[in-house]
Amino acid sequence: MSTIPKVELHLHIEGAAPPAFIRGLAQEKGVNLDGVFNDDGSYKFESFNQFLSVYEAACTVLTGPEEFARLTTAVLEQSIAQGVIYTEAFLSPDFCGGGDVGAWREYMNAMQEAAAKLPEIEMRGIVTCIRHFGPDQAKVAAKCAAETAGGFITGFGMGGDEMVGTQGDYAYSFDMAREAGLRLTTHAGEWGGADSVWQAVRDLKVDRVGHGVQAIDDLALVDHLAEHGIVLEVCPGSNVALGVYPDWRSHPIEKLRERGVPVTVSTDDPPFFHTTLSAEYDRLADTFGWDDEVVREVNVTAAKAAFCDTVTREKLL
Ligand code: ADE
Ligand code: ZN
Repeated sequence: MSTIPKVELHLHIEGAAPPAFIRGLAQEKGVNLDGVFNDDGSYKFESFNQFLSVYEAACTVLTGPEEFARLTTAVLEQSIAQGVIYTEAFLSPDFCGGGDVGAWREYMNAMQEAAAKLPEIEMRGIVTCIRHFGPDQAKVAAKCAAETAGGFITGFGMGGDEMVGTQGDYAYSFDMAREAGLRLTTHAGEWGGADSVWQAVRDLKVDRVGHGVQAIDDLALVDHLAEHGIVLEVCPGSNVALGVYPDWRSHPIEKLRERGVPVTVSTDDPPFFHTTLSAEYDRLADTFGWDDEVVREVNVTAAKAAFCDTVTREKLL
């Protein structure tokens, strides 16, 4: 599948950091990352909450714009190898200067410049707040997003622990981002059930939903997503690795697609989940019989749902 041009809509920049990259920075800085890696060098976690802790521990060694520039290059090179021609990455002001707008701008410029050096791929950033940091910190991220909206920054989103609070607790931040002209997505229905997806649609009025797979438990919601063309950023390998579903066969992506929901495929945090975008499509082919035509269709859906300007979207189609 690596030869089919692909569009990826759901990728966390820090979560895409190769473990060797993080280990190298830790060694350079003398930072102790005990507990972050398995003996074989891979990231170590056995639950979603451990995953979030290890993720945040790994982020502590990413401390300046230059490091995020290097990270961007490393991540985009991985994506290019998967045939990705356009990618939207979640960028978090909380990990890039702690929410200070001036610092955030420097980090953002560094990532944008690094991306511009790779003509094989086009990148846009979705500024992301982190749900378990709370609604007040989300407003700080939303302010960074609003101040840098346009061009490279095309969206605003929310990741983190979906079981903290409600989607609506973050409505102020999403409204601020929308008013700044940004498109919206939030992690919903990864852990939080169908109700969390309803909240995302009704209370945050998002254009896309990160994961959204638990919508399958409410067919009225499935039909609502299909009717309104609300696109799901589905990350099956992530869901299986984190235990949302016990195996690929149980994953609802094909049922959602068959019922008319616009699904797309992404990797979320590929080195954490031992996956690549091509591997995701290979597993979908093996499990659900996806052929090249389906893969192309899904990537057209992704291109249409991309938060880029019209000119770029037309180039993708
Ligand atoms: N941040 C990085 N990966 C995530 C995931 N799968 N769910 C929520 N927040 C995340
Ligand atoms: Zn995610």
